[in-house]
Amino acid sequence: MEKIKPELLKVAARQVANNAYAPYSHFPVGAALLTNDGKIYTGCNVEASSYGLTVCAERNAIAAAISAGERYFRAMGIFSLTRVSPCGACRQVIWDICGDIDIFLFDESEDYQYFRSSELFPIPFDNNQMKGIDK
Ligand code: THU
Repeated sequence: MEKIKPELLKVAARQVANNAYAPYSHFPVGAALLTNDGKIYTGCNVEASSYGLTVCAERNAIAAAISAGERYFRAMGIFSLTRVSPCGACRQVIWDICGDIDIFLFDESEDYQYFRSSELFPIPFDNNQMKGIDK
């Protein structure tokens, strides 16, 4: 498989952050999800006046990819002005749907941080914990 180019994820995540619907926090975030076959799907945060209904950029990128029929993922890039890492809810969903992928955290600077999703979500709850239970 071709080597991952973080810069491509940064450009895509930075671009989609411009579409953020964030009238409450004024904090735009963009996420770019790379599939195993090299396609990139993007998402931005979409807020609601009942704040808890907000959906983060990361989960919207996953929803876009899944909705397009994608199932196998390699990496996610996340862009915001203050270089955030994914919230707890997104870590769960990234783990469940993407598994142990590369996560790149970007801001406007040249620097970025890199983690595996297993580092960000080290002792996961997932479907394996429910195996062996009669349902
Ligand atoms: N947010 C994201 O979209 N992703 C993150 O990784 C952190 C937080 C959004 C949610 C909300 O719209 C705003 O940033 C402030 O929390």
